[in-house]
Amino acid sequence: MKRILIVGAGGQIGSELTTYLRKIYGDTNVIATDVRPNERLAETGPFFTLDALDAEALAGLVSREKIDAIFNLVALLSAVGEAKPQVAWQINMGALNNSLEVARQYNCALFTPSSIGAFGPTSPKDKTPQDTVMRPTTMYGVCKVAGEMLSDYYFTRYGVDTRSVRFPGLISNVTFPGGGTTDYAVEIYYEAIRTGKFTCPIPQGEYMDMMYMPDALRACVELMEADPAKLIHRNSFNITAMSFTPEIIYAEIKKRLPEFTMDYNVDPVKQAIAASWPNSLDDTCARDEWGWKPEWNLSSMTDDMLDVIRKKNLK
Ligand code: SER
Repeated sequence: MKRILIVGAGGQIGSELTTYLRKIYGDTNVIATDVRPNERLAETGPFFTLDALDAEALAGLVSREKIDAIFNLVALLSAVGEAKPQVAWQINMGALNNSLEVARQYNCALFTPSSIGAFGPTSPKDKTPQDTVMRPTTMYGVCKVAGEMLSDYYFTRYGVDTRSVRFPGLISNVTFPGGGTTDYAVEIYYEAIRTGKFTCPIPQGEYMDMMYMPDALRACVELMEADPAKLIHRNSFNITAMSFTPEIIYAEIKKRLPEFTMDYNVDPVKQAIAASWPNSLDDTCARDEWGWKPEWNLSSMTDDMLDVIRKKNLK
């Protein structure tokens, strides 16, 4: 990767991936775009307002900027996707389709995240294998499975260098996720610092896979820089760092903030989504094929999250 385009750079992943990639590949070589203006990203390098559904504008930018790698991060998340399924399909698949086409025409590598949401209630729940039943029951998941297959199709049919990981819930402290089922694991840290109490929308006992953003950013680069000869899979690799329930993350925070309290007000939509997803993924293929290994666990992540959020001096 030499000249990189990030589509949907203003979101939870993009807002940190842009900074991360600019440090590695040089500020001017990482072109950030989003449907909304973003002053923070424009301060450290090139930024353009771009609607990923506008295929012509996307192709024009890729050609003008001599792009050789695209990160397509455009997506409505799982819970908001259930509120607006048709819009989720149009945006999630529209952005992917345009990215694949432009990658084919201009010979770019393409990274698009998939998710634990690509699995469904008939997938094995524990240590969910890399290759297994994938019948998701959310529009978000339907888009992710279709996207994985379409990306593999572009690789085998046209030789487009498409690569992807199935991200677990991502925990971060720069930009909020918004509309996802795993968002609670971000919000809980902010509320612990801000108000000392948290009302959890996910029921007790519900395990989901999670990862701290620094691991997720490293995964993007390591997969995209991996030797293609070693990749048996492409779209998309199971990766994970930890798996916990609401009461486990609560207990971890309470160790550091003894006054912190949590109660539950379960959101039925998020409850159903969470129940349909795996408890924990098996990421052996990612480890074997490109050396994936997480560096953060629940304890080290909790120390860092609380530290960073405390410094924000939130009211
Ligand atoms: N974090 C996403 C969501 O909860 C899952 O990939 O929708």
